[in-house]
Amino acid sequence: MTETVIHVQGLVKDHLSNFLRKRFRALDGLNLTVRKGETYGLLGPNGAGKTTTQKLLLGLLKPTGGTVQVLGYQPGDTRALARIGFLPENPYFYAYLTAYEFLDFFGRLFNLCAAKRKERIAELLKLVSLTEARDRPVRKFSKGMMQRLGVAQALLNDPDLIFLDEPNTGLDPIGRRDIRNIMLALKEQGKTIFFNSHMLPDVRDICDRVGVLHRGKLVGEGEVEAICTSGNYQDLEDYFMDLINTAEEEYRKTGGITPYHIEREGVR
Ligand SMILES: Nc1ncnc2c1ncn2[C@@H]1O[C@H](COP(=O)(O)OP(=O)(O)O)[C@@H](O)[C@H]1O
Ligand SMILES: [Mg+2]
Repeated sequence: MTETVIHVQGLVKDHLSNFLRKRFRALDGLNLTVRKGETYGLLGPNGAGKTTTQKLLLGLLKPTGGTVQVLGYQPGDTRALARIGFLPENPYFYAYLTAYEFLDFFGRLFNLCAAKRKERIAELLKLVSLTEARDRPVRKFSKGMMQRLGVAQALLNDPDLIFLDEPNTGLDPIGRRDIRNIMLALKEQGKTIFFNSHMLPDVRDICDRVGVLHRGKLVGEGEVEAICTSGNYQDLEDYFMDLINTAEEEYRKTGGITPYHIEREGVR
């Protein structure tokens, strides 16, 4: 049987808002399993709970309830973190460092020796097509180049499991294609990838399996190929919108406030 890399059961997360210390349930009983070598896409509109899920898996947030195991450990366990790479939603870059210096800095944090850093950084710059830009300061980078540098940083420790929080949001079509190709290359290397996105055409090309999150609940999950060839849906967008709009209809019926309806153009 294929090894389970991420196992989540009944995960609940309440955020406390600063305003009146009100509780907000961002995740409500999430169950999720990701196997070794799989590329899993967690889809959902803004505010659905995607980032919250990733932060819980990384141990950056503490769950309110439920259990989480990542690479066989509690989230945040250093034995697991050593084998994990992470690209946050809005990565921060030291503008005055060059791409090489930036990666070298993180290589030092990972305790890689000078020779290993040199070798690894050259490899990664090649993978993300930044070899030519290695000595340019990051402030002169385009958004796409920064995102690729962020991916390189996430891969410094040659992780088995990679978390990417909306790596293709805010990029132009070329930037998106670059990220997609990098992710496909990582998949080819047998890495397990867990990523959040609402860029559905990209998800279609990259993911083996997707889960659809709606207001903190998983309202659908399945193999991408099976979804797209079932004949029930025109494509992944159709599947996504059908699930979200049905869930939203339920939410409205049970007295939910500020319901919404997604139109096809709205989620692209
Ligand atoms: N630290 C926080 N404090 C209070 N509410 C939060 C916090 N982080 C996220 N939320 C709320 O939780 C919900 C889910 O957020 P998030 O996980 O960032 O969604 P997504 O990544 O899918 O856009 C949102 O309604 C958001 O406003
Ligand atoms: Mg998010």
